Amino acid sequence: PQDVNEEINKQFEELIQTLPSHKGSAVPTLINYKGFWYPPISVFKGVLLMQDHFKARPTDIFLCSALKSGTTWLKAIMFSTMNRSEYDFANHPLLTTGPHDCIPYLDAYITEHDVEALPSPRLLSSHSAYSLIPKSARESPDCKIVYICRNPKDVFVSHYLFAMKLRPPMLPPVSMEEAFDWFCNGVCEYGPYFEHVLGYWKASLEFPQKILFLKYEEMKKDPVKHVKQLAEFLGKPFSAEEEKEGVVEEIVKLCSFENLTSLEVNKTGKLAFVPELIIGNDNFFRKGQVGDSKNHLTPEMIERLDKVTEEKLKGTGFAF
Ligand code: A3P
Repeated sequence: PQDVNEEINKQFEELIQTLPSHKGSAVPTLINYKGFWYPPISVFKGVLLMQDHFKARPTDIFLCSALKSGTTWLKAIMFSTMNRSEYDFANHPLLTTGPHDCIPYLDAYITEHDVEALPSPRLLSSHSAYSLIPKSARESPDCKIVYICRNPKDVFVSHYLFAMKLRPPMLPPVSMEEAFDWFCNGVCEYGPYFEHVLGYWKASLEFPQKILFLKYEEMKKDPVKHVKQLAEFLGKPFSAEEEKEGVVEEIVKLCSFENLTSLEVNKTGKLAFVPELIIGNDNFFRKGQVGDSKNHLTPEMIERLDKVTEEKLKGTGFAF
């Protein structure tokens, strides 16, 4: 509504003046809100609004992730798993709709999607840190959160290449070395990356019924196993009959990198994340492989990020 928008705009403008800022890669400036870096476009307004106004329903399911951790893939998998009795695979919405348009971003709450009008059970997504997703989502004992993380070296490379495609051409480019330095120091959209991962990791240990913690690399190794695990976690386990009919394999095939990248919608379609940020769907697909960062990072960079990773994870019981 108009009055809510005006109020938020005012709050946003005032707040933004008081927040620390840093140079960004996809966007010129990032601002730090409660320990995490956001681009100061409507995404940040959406984050404020969702915190104040969003009310989780007990049936809500949230897909949470840092950037470039496998969000697009998991969106496709969650959408097709939850809706498997609605559609047949030959005529599936994912054949003509980008995965991002199947599960809206809560971070873009203000402008993009009327999440209140969505029927239950809602599938929603967020790149925000655990401490910054709406309180009602964290505190509801019933709604579920699925988090996906990925090896930080691959996340960095995937993000850097993505950011350079998105960066407005009139801005001077950011070198990989420079962006790498920022990443190692904790500066990246929605990051620091390690704090993002560890926030959800710790919460998943505390609330294992509520938060499912997935790893991109493990899903790549055995997607069938993870689709089954996901369905069970979401309260929709595959029946023996479905398994016999090969429904799990159909989902894995439908959502595979090879299949999604072959579709016209993912080659030429566009995602309006917020009105100021329209992204071609093709940007969400690059190689979809584990370990591609070794083709982009120098041995020194690898050593440095491995060391940062080790330090950040020390004593947490978590490993990538
Ligand atoms: P790369 O840049 O390493 O190829 P996100 O969806 O969170 O933005 O992450 C994007 C990364 O996931 C990209 O990694 C992209 O290629 C990869 N990806 C997209 N769709 C995928 C799929 N269906 N299966 C596996 N990886 C996928």
